[in-house]
Amino acid sequence: MNRPPAANRYRDAWAGELGADRAGQRLRVAGWVHRRRDHGGLIFIDLRDRSGLLQLVFHPETSGEAFAAAERLRSEHVLSAVGTLVRREEANVNPNIATGEVELQVEEMEVLAQAETPPFPVDEDGQVDESTRLAHRMIDLRREAMRDALVLRDRIVRVMRETLAEHDFLEIETPILTRSTPEGARDFLVPSRMQPGSFYALPQSPQLFKQLLMMSGYERYYQIARCFRDEDLRADRQPEFTQLDLEMSFVEEEDVMGLMERLFARVFEACGFSAPPPPWPRLGYDEAMARYGSDRPDLRFGLEIHDVSDHLRGTGFKAFRGVLDSGGVVRGFNAGPRETPRKELDELTELAQRTGAKGLVWAFVQEGGVWRSPIAKFLTDAEMQAVSSQLGASEGDLLLAVADDACVAAEVLGTLRLRLGEPDTSRHELVWIVDFPAFEWNEGEGRWDALHHPFTAPVGDLSDPGSLRSRAYDLVLDGTEIGGGSIRIHDVDVQRRVLEILGMPEEEAQARFGFLLDALRYGAPPHGGIAFGLDRVAAIVAGRDSIRDVIAFPKTASGADLMTGAPAPVDARQMKELGLRPA
Ligand code: AMO
Repeated sequence: MNRPPAANRYRDAWAGELGADRAGQRLRVAGWVHRRRDHGGLIFIDLRDRSGLLQLVFHPETSGEAFAAAERLRSEHVLSAVGTLVRREEANVNPNIATGEVELQVEEMEVLAQAETPPFPVDEDGQVDESTRLAHRMIDLRREAMRDALVLRDRIVRVMRETLAEHDFLEIETPILTRSTPEGARDFLVPSRMQPGSFYALPQSPQLFKQLLMMSGYERYYQIARCFRDEDLRADRQPEFTQLDLEMSFVEEEDVMGLMERLFARVFEACGFSAPPPPWPRLGYDEAMARYGSDRPDLRFGLEIHDVSDHLRGTGFKAFRGVLDSGGVVRGFNAGPRETPRKELDELTELAQRTGAKGLVWAFVQEGGVWRSPIAKFLTDAEMQAVSSQLGASEGDLLLAVADDACVAAEVLGTLRLRLGEPDTSRHELVWIVDFPAFEWNEGEGRWDALHHPFTAPVGDLSDPGSLRSRAYDLVLDGTEIGGGSIRIHDVDVQRRVLEILGMPEEEAQARFGFLLDALRYGAPPHGGIAFGLDRVAAIVAGRDSIRDVIAFPKTASGADLMTGAPAPVDARQMKELGLRPA
């Protein structure tokens, strides 16, 4: 803690910070009963406050009435106690807690609140089922692991704020009740009582507002912004989540990326997170897809994908030949030496098929470079040797390959790579992904979709959407996309044209984004920005698997808050007032 609490009737010191230097002092502390032990006529209480634990000792003679009261104390009762801080005897020093050298010999105690037995113990790091923890989150948050995560999250945000303030950013709030802000997810809608039949949308991000702030001359904006997206949830997705969102005027890609590197280097340092020093590598999208089968590659392990097509163009193996002749690829990677039983190979094949491949080729490299593989008999020795050599294979290695169109091959091999990779969790890897295609063809809907969002500046010939690149950049940490941003369109004609490419006729564009198009006509500076998923950053820095573990009150995979019971039905009168009919 930064400073002692102001002395009052409850306390004058943080329990978890007392050390031998304060021995001999009369102190007052307050908190929760973390644990109680009776020992040789003495009662020991581990008292917990936010700062940590302190052992209180109640002695039948010196503690007076407090001793009798201590006999009735149970876990999680709340108390305030006064006593003298003493050094523990050598044999009783507890190296596991910060205050392990001392204890408070209690003279007086006031019980401030009783507590029923909590639904699960606070003092153990036992395996409590997550839904029980979420249903009683107020108890769960008392656990050390949760407290540490939230303290760490606070530190991250604080360093971000300090750094951005030093760089002249202004923290500006943007509306929560707004119009749809397209980031590719479904909107959460809020019915308007005053305009029945009309709805606000909760922001998927402050994207348009931050761009407008640039057009209004604010130069550098940031916000710790709550965003809302109604999409399928996963360990790293919540329906409401927090972004560090920022925008800058008169900048290019490297200005934003360079500043973000300085910012994150400080965040990591403040959190004792050992990331490589910036600058972090910039990897083009195409290369990331070709080498890792993903635009958010985990670089903590190898298993790099190679294109082995050139060795097989003349092959007699029909499955490969057919794919290659029709413009596809054969790609694969060396999964290294591994005993892989048939069952596991079948599982990998099944995974490949579920991801879109027609099949998966596997081969074990045997003595003399010969393959043990269902397709060995269809390939020449020279073909096998050439593929093995490109994949850097040695005896005992398992090689995996897919023949398909380039996108499917990347997707499938990227999935297999993740399945088989064993990241070195003691190190961390950051990489910027740049040079994205601007649009991707949406086969189902028969139209172009923006790979980032419709306000990202394209590069290239607007009459050929498929060939356009965008001025976007994503930051990837250990295989998770922690942030994404871009240089924006600041020319109204380009913006109109991009909306048109996305299938938005002028009238609709005007209706949905008229305010942006208008702003672009009144003098818009070149500008760009980025947003980071704060929950994701905090989870990785804290070493947690799920962002739920760094959010005080998260929702489950089905979007429920098990503690408050949200979402919940509302009564008929409220529905009527809002002009809604029951489903
Ligand atoms: P984007 O949609 O990439 O960009 O979001 C930025 C970052 O937010 C995090 N994120 C999420 N975190 C938790 N739960 C979710 N459901 C979720 N969705 C996204 C990710 C992601 O990288 N307006 C643009 C930014 C910009 O262009 O400046 C935007 O929102 O870590």
